[in-house]
Amino acid sequence: MDSFIGQTAIVTGGATGIGAAAAASLAAQGVHVCILDLDAAGAEAVVRDIKGSGGTASASRADLTDWKDTQAAVDAFAKGAGRLDIVVHSAGGFPAYVSLIDCPVEAWDPVVNSNLRSMFYLLKAAAPHMMQRRYGRFVSLSSMAARSGVNPNPPHYTAAKGGMLALTRQAARDLGPYGITVNAVAPANVQTPRTRAIRTPERIAHIERTTPLGRLAEPQEIANAVVWLASPQASYVTGTTMDVNGGATMI
Ligand SMILES: NC(=O)c1ccc[n+]([C@@H]2O[C@H](COP(=O)([O-])OP(=O)(O)OC[C@H]3O[C@@H](n4cnc5c(N)ncnc54)[C@H](O)[C@@H]3O)[C@@H](O)[C@H]2O)c1
Repeated sequence: MDSFIGQTAIVTGGATGIGAAAAASLAAQGVHVCILDLDAAGAEAVVRDIKGSGGTASASRADLTDWKDTQAAVDAFAKGAGRLDIVVHSAGGFPAYVSLIDCPVEAWDPVVNSNLRSMFYLLKAAAPHMMQRRYGRFVSLSSMAARSGVNPNPPHYTAAKGGMLALTRQAARDLGPYGITVNAVAPANVQTPRTRAIRTPERIAHIERTTPLGRLAEPQEIANAVVWLASPQASYVTGTTMDVNGGATMI
């Protein structure tokens, strides 16, 4: 994909898991990557790995639930690099499974804000830079939780990930005239450090039984879909959700 050469990307949540794999994959294609994450040490470690493989990357600590922080970080990178072609929004997740009945009301805001509010802030901060050059790719990590009620998922997380899909469609409509595409990837069960810590052996066995491909995904398998949606080749795809779930749901 030599058409990535010269492009720049912000990858949120790039300190770990899917975001780290997406950042490394984009950098391997010649994209100048900036990781925005709360976890400065984790982000720096990914930057070191990328540079060690011959890529170009930097990291900046930002709280994406804070508008001023988000806008300042996006503006600083876009102005410094001279352009902003791609935003991959992988920050978010949830700390532990909890049912609707047991979900404390105080747990709602942090999860909805880190997944969904952050997406709104990123779109608002990145769009002006992309509109200037009439080109942009925005790819968010939603979840199978937003596509199907077949598995138990926490209510705040499910709502946030569903909101991300609705916002993907609305942003695609608003930004399409400026040559900017907005899409989502909906993974199901991925082997990342966070999910390894919260999935019980029984849950993993259930996933393996109910997934046609018979296994969980590797972060790289999700990153591959992200990279394609972020590429110039995905030029006529916008407002969509790509399910990357081993066939766990077929919509
Ligand atoms: N891992 C899975 O099985 C899975 C499945 C479906 C969807 N997803 C989604 O994919 C994305 C990546 O998941 P993962 O498991 O690879 O990583 P993760 O959820 O463990 O990590 C997310 C990263 O986001 C950062 N972050 C959280 N809040 C932030 C904030 N306010 N500002 C800046 N950074 C913040 C964290 O520091 C962390 O580095 C998440 O959005 C998650 O919901 C993951």
